[in-house]
Amino acid sequence: MRIGVLTSGGDCPGLNAVIRSVVHRAVVDHGDEVIGFHDGWRGLLECDYRKLDLDAVGGILARGGTILGSSRVRPEDLRDGVERAKGYVEELGLDAIIPIGGEGTLKAAHLLSEGGLPIVGVPKTIDNDIASTDVTFGFDTAVGVATEALDRLKTTAESHQRVLIVEVMGRHTGWIALHSGMAAGAHAIVVPERPFDIEELSKRVGERFEAGKRFAIVVVAEGAKPREGSMRWDEGGKDVYGHERFAGVARQLSIELEQRLGKEARPVILGHVQRGGTPTAYDRVLATRFGWHAVEAAHRGQFGMLTALRGTEITMVPLADAVRTLKTVPAERYAEAQCVL
Ligand code: F6P
Repeated sequence: MRIGVLTSGGDCPGLNAVIRSVVHRAVVDHGDEVIGFHDGWRGLLECDYRKLDLDAVGGILARGGTILGSSRVRPEDLRDGVERAKGYVEELGLDAIIPIGGEGTLKAAHLLSEGGLPIVGVPKTIDNDIASTDVTFGFDTAVGVATEALDRLKTTAESHQRVLIVEVMGRHTGWIALHSGMAAGAHAIVVPERPFDIEELSKRVGERFEAGKRFAIVVVAEGAKPREGSMRWDEGGKDVYGHERFAGVARQLSIELEQRLGKEARPVILGHVQRGGTPTAYDRVLATRFGWHAVEAAHRGQFGMLTALRGTEITMVPLADAVRTLKTVPAERYAEAQCVL
């Protein structure tokens, strides 16, 4: 068999572990040939690739980022490129393509699969918002990074009697905010699933100071928004890929809280530090299992599907199901955290 692999969309710790696993399983156990397209879908649309043998994936298990490079592609460019991609797949004699990616990549994978390409998807994202899998690799690493940052920020916040509003990633969902906030004992967690009430947040932080505490940590997901009309709010518009550009929820919240409470409030934006660096052991194992199962699915001819973790088992689910909805934080989880607004 000849298999093409690519990594597309925002990078994520564990991508290299999937690539390595695909190559090991395919080359060593099946005697397949594997090629890697450069910079995600761009590589497929421009037939830009390299051969991936065992040497090519040596030493990459623990490395962050992706050795293949990644990029975003505009949906219209991909739609226009389906026939071209099919031509290259035929020319290269590919029997399967394994795209590793998040929401946007899996939508693109579904489109190409509908167009007749032999696709087996692998879900990834630090945001953990892919509905068909219990967990995506990268999430555990990101939560670990955010939690360590929160632990550190607590000590400096206390020294200076500050309110620190810590913005973590989470475009549509608050999984990173919820888990890191719970792990670090944040005093309030703000998630995109539930528009926040600035009155309530301000009251909660204010009561903490009234009770004699000398600092507060608020964790906020980048995609969180206030209740319509409840405070002054800047929108950031859209980028060329149609993604919302965020105007800085932590910055806007810090201005508002400082005015309301008369306490010094500072924004801290963790940003891409959550996506970089070495994956945790959990993420390496999950990524390795996904890679192994993707190759097996390709050999069984299970196209139009993606790998998913359900409980402790890896299973294959239709791409069509994976792209239908996002996995948001269910309301019962807010109650468990005890401090979600
Ligand atoms: O989808 C993962 C993610 O890390 C989001 O949390 C974040 O909004 C987005 O990627 C940022 O993407 P980029 O690196 O392209 O700005």
